[in-house]
Amino acid sequence: MAIVAPSILSADFANIQRDVEMINSSQADWFHIDIMDGVFVPNISFGFPVLKAIQKHAKKPLDVHLMIVEPEKFFEEFKNVGAQILSVHIEACTHLHRSIQQIKSLGMKAGVAINPHTPIFLLKEVIADIDLVCMMSVNPGFGGQSFIENTYSKIRELKSLIAEKSSQALIEIDGGVSLSNYKKLVECGADVLVAGNTVFSSSDPIQAILELKNV
Ligand code: DX5
Ligand code: ZN
Repeated sequence: MAIVAPSILSADFANIQRDVEMINSSQADWFHIDIMDGVFVPNISFGFPVLKAIQKHAKKPLDVHLMIVEPEKFFEEFKNVGAQILSVHIEACTHLHRSIQQIKSLGMKAGVAINPHTPIFLLKEVIADIDLVCMMSVNPGFGGQSFIENTYSKIRELKSLIAEKSSQALIEIDGGVSLSNYKKLVECGADVLVAGNTVFSSSDPIQAILELKNV
């Protein structure tokens, strides 16, 4: 059974407490939180005040996905607003190894996110040190985009790298996860499914989450 992480980016920000409580009461496992800076990605999402409001009501782990340049400037602040899993983009970190160690030394789980064009072999030297790979199955920046099919073969490749290096890293798929592709994603080796549009555009979000759990 996959870990399901609804993406708050697709929530109703005028009713954030209601949507957080919906996730609390569902079968979802984590909250997926997308932070965008308008530089690394062509969009701006939200920052610490919103994250604090989410933290106040959330009863499940906060899985924070940083789509920002120079993420290390803010690791401590993300820890303070409740991040339990913190992912940085491989494309945004010059000193990725150091960034991973910093995240772990603050007591968070460390994740590395990779864009659709980034090859899996670039994770080779860090895979044994990390807790999660956030594999982008769309180009980051927006919710509701369509899934990139090449992701399936990347999952298989990552799965074998993880085995080869005796890594404990979970494989998280982020972008375009739907009720028509989630089964195949899990069959290929996905451990965590992020779902924004699929959950929040559903007429029955609780049921959509339940379906994603029932592989
Ligand atoms: C995209 C974000 C995703 C996004 C997924 O940049 O990282 O987490 O919220 O949304 P859906 O599931 O709608 O593609
Ligand atoms: Zn994300």
